[in-house]
Amino acid sequence: MAEIAVEATETPAQIPNVRVAVLGAGKMGGILLQAFLKQNLFAAEQIHATRAHAESALAMSTQWGVDVSTDNLEAARNADLILLGVKPFQVPDLLEEIRPALTKEKMIVSIAASVKTRSIEDLAGIDIAVVRAMPNTPSALGAGAAALCRGRFVSPRQMELAQRIFETVGRTVTVEEKHMEAVTGLSGIGPAYIYIIIEALAEAGVKVGLPRDVATQLAAQTAFGAAKMVLETGYHPALLKDAVTTPAGCTIDGILELEEGGLRVTLIKAVMRATERAKQLAAG
Ligand SMILES: NC(=O)c1ccc[n+]([C@@H]2O[C@H](COP(=O)([O-])OP(=O)(O)OC[C@H]3O[C@@H](n4cnc5c(N)ncnc54)[C@H](OP(=O)(O)O)[C@@H]3O)[C@@H](O)[C@H]2O)c1
Repeated sequence: MAEIAVEATETPAQIPNVRVAVLGAGKMGGILLQAFLKQNLFAAEQIHATRAHAESALAMSTQWGVDVSTDNLEAARNADLILLGVKPFQVPDLLEEIRPALTKEKMIVSIAASVKTRSIEDLAGIDIAVVRAMPNTPSALGAGAAALCRGRFVSPRQMELAQRIFETVGRTVTVEEKHMEAVTGLSGIGPAYIYIIIEALAEAGVKVGLPRDVATQLAAQTAFGAAKMVLETGYHPALLKDAVTTPAGCTIDGILELEEGGLRVTLIKAVMRATERAKQLAAG
């Protein structure tokens, strides 16, 4: 996916007094960091990011005008909020590395899939606030879906701050931690399901005679529009479906085929399977 260039703005940051360390500013950490700058949630001077490789740190620093290094300890030491953006298996080593910089006044936000708040608290070795989040890739365009859950030591203000962070890249919900693997199975990896549905609808358009680019645009915009209808009207999807299904019309014929093909059950099973896998990974 092409990267979107960001220019730091001149207007004051919306959260001026919080210093942020994004440790492991790769794909997802980088998306969040860009959104912070683009929406001016934090000013460039408030952010220190890290990467594993010095050359990627330098390239990122040059591109976005923020401090990017390979020194996690220094970044954590100078931060109030520490965002863990490394791969799940790298979390224990990273926490070991930054442990000397951790204090009870700081806060950790982790986006590492399947890593429990309790393990992060244990690895930190102190009663520190830990918020765990599961965002998804449409966050890159401000259309993400993220679920957050809190560890044992998170105050309402800290939770509010975590929510504001993820609201810069889309819609945010708060769930109990026991639901985080279900979130992974539904929205974490959900864009992949929707891409397949869009691809299949576009293929269908080609089958019934539409040029491929036209079919793809219509399929994607239809998925977007239907999602917007659900989110903005607040109506149950079944009600919206019934409203467009006229007696003896075309829609009911299409729906009949979908039901016969088992689309509904297949999607339910897909989410169940992915949730099970996320649970296996969480269990180690
Ligand atoms: N991508 C998604 O859709 C998605 C969705 C939800 C949650 N997540 C979670 O987000 C996390 C990152 O995933 P990703 O897809 O963004 O992976 P990624 O692009 O590989 O990013 C990981 C970054 O961590 C850096 N890194 C590795 N070891 C480091 C260390 N010791 N110190 C500092 N930086 C280090 C790497 O730096 P270099 O680039 O220099 O090697 C890389 O930029 C994972 O835990 C994943 O579960 C991802």
